[in-house]
Amino acid sequence: MPPLERHALLRPVSREHYDGLMLCWHIRRALTQGGDPDAQMRACADFYHTHLLSHFAIEEEAVFPVLGAEDPLVKRALAEHRRLTRLFMAWEDPLRNLSLIEEELEAHIRFEERVLFQRVQEVATEEELERIDRLHGLLAGAELLS
Ligand SMILES: [Fe+2]
Ligand SMILES: [Fe+2]
Repeated sequence: MPPLERHALLRPVSREHYDGLMLCWHIRRALTQGGDPDAQMRACADFYHTHLLSHFAIEEEAVFPVLGAEDPLVKRALAEHRRLTRLFMAWEDPLRNLSLIEEELEAHIRFEERVLFQRVQEVATEEELERIDRLHGLLAGAELLS
C-alpha cells in the first residue's frame, strides 16, 4: 500500500488498518502452509472481538457521520462491515470462510484507506476530526481496562 498523507487526528484509526492487513497476511500463510482451519477461525474470532469491533464502532460513530448515512461510500462500507461480521462469526466451512475473510477484509481496508478516509479528510471539520481522535482514545482506554 503506498503511504498516503493522513491527517494527524485520523492516524490512530488509520494505523489499525495495518493490524487488519497483518491478520490477512497470517491467514494467507496458514492457508498455503495447511494450518488447522478451526484454530485459525478461533484466532479470527479473537481478533474480531479485541480489535475489529471497536474499530468498526469508531468508524460508524465518528468517521462515517462526517460524510452522512446517504453517502454511497458510507453505504458500501457499512454493508462490508455487516458482511465481514457474518464471516468472522461463522463456524461452518472454515477453509472457505478464512479465504473470504482474507480477501474481503483486505479489499475493505484498501477501499477505506484509498477512497473513504481520503474523502473524509477532505471534507471533515477540525471539530469532527477531534471527535474521531477523542473517541479512539476513549475506546482504546476501555480496551485496556477490559
Ligand atoms: Fe471499516
Ligand atoms: Fe477501517
